[in-house]
Amino acid sequence: MKYLKIIGNKNIEGEISISGAKNAALPLIACTILSKNKIAINNMPNVADINTFLRLIEKLGGTYEKNKDEVKISTLSIDKTTATYDIVKTMRASILVLGPLLARFGHCEVSLPGGCAIGQRPVDLHLKALEQMGAIIEIKNGYIQATAPQGLKGAKIVFDKVTVGGTENILMAAALAKGTTTIINAAKEPEIVQLCEVIASAGVKIEGIGTSKLIIEGTDKKLLEIQDFTVIPDRIEAGTYMCVGAITNTKLKINNVIPLHLEAIISKLEEMNFEIIQEENSVTVLPTDEIKPVNIITTEYPGFPTDMQAQFMALATQANGVSTIDERLFENRFMHVSELLRLGADIHLNGNIATINGKAGTLNGTDVMATDLRASSALVLAALVAQGETNIHRIYHLDRGYEDLEGKLSSIGVDVKRFNE
Ligand code: UD1
Repeated sequence: MKYLKIIGNKNIEGEISISGAKNAALPLIACTILSKNKIAINNMPNVADINTFLRLIEKLGGTYEKNKDEVKISTLSIDKTTATYDIVKTMRASILVLGPLLARFGHCEVSLPGGCAIGQRPVDLHLKALEQMGAIIEIKNGYIQATAPQGLKGAKIVFDKVTVGGTENILMAAALAKGTTTIINAAKEPEIVQLCEVIASAGVKIEGIGTSKLIIEGTDKKLLEIQDFTVIPDRIEAGTYMCVGAITNTKLKINNVIPLHLEAIISKLEEMNFEIIQEENSVTVLPTDEIKPVNIITTEYPGFPTDMQAQFMALATQANGVSTIDERLFENRFMHVSELLRLGADIHLNGNIATINGKAGTLNGTDVMATDLRASSALVLAALVAQGETNIHRIYHLDRGYEDLEGKLSSIGVDVKRFNE
């Protein structure tokens, strides 16, 4: 298996360019299932999860052509409706084909995703909402078997909990359903906004885009005609590189971002005493005299993202004082704590609240293991300021969501190399 060796405490300088957002691109690929025309998608991130999703489209009978960061997808030829376990087990986001396949074909089978490193992650809310739209759902042999003998019908869906994937699945299903679907307590993430805009580009009327109440008027067409589009920049990749600047306490400019999507991250960095310069498409982190501690509660957008919690924990180890991180979305998202402890961090866990006693210069390099995508990036951040060498194992987690991590880090002077064990 591959691992990364990082030698810490090198001076960094330069600029980083952010790739397209993985979490926007995944549902957007799923939504091509609703369309009869070939769609060109630009700014597609080159990461493992996207390649897995494209493989899933191919397994269903669709085709794609990839040319640098442009991918053209054609799903008219789809003739299978099963998302098999081998794909779903490597990427939970495969559940996003459930809504569009069911809406288009009236039946589909999707392997149950099961748990994952950050918790149980059920899909009950997706299923309940589809049932309200007329689907009949059975769980058999580890598969969700969904049928809609009369086709899907619009319904009023009230989500008990804000769910990003659930909102996406229902949005896509609603676009081809008969009548109007109202989603109350919808997720408002920028990734959802882009999905709405792309579906709306095919003439589907969606009211309330960017709010927690979405009203979707299903079309009476069998398939849509979705326009070509460009994936929005990855706010989590951007936030991670902002933390690279912050933890190394160096000026770092991050290009190709939408600063509005980074407000919660910018505000926490400001609380930690960093000055952030915001321009139209870039943010620059400036060094500070003293990194101050911070208190973070993860929540839905526009609040502080759970996907940035691990990176801020690494950063808090270098703050002057006690920080707290309260994880409210996932029950088991602190696997990085034991690895940060191996690097010398002083962190205490009490349920879903981590207390970090920060002090600059206390980390020492060693071997650590990545446990999930964002936890891995916390280890990379810690390695940047650890004394000596840190080897990060199981980096396939990082490859799932960070495009050319070594290339981008090397370009700003980080001593990082990839090895095969
Ligand atoms: C998406 C993101 C992930 C991010 C998360 C929260 C993608 C591909 N992934 O994941 O990176 O960390 O949003 O911002 O975009 N829940 C239920 N029942 C359901 C669905 C969800 O109880 O049917 C719970 C989950 O266990 C969790 C919370 O709702 O506690 C939020 O999950 P959700 O927003 O659905 O996350 P994902 O869409 O899986």
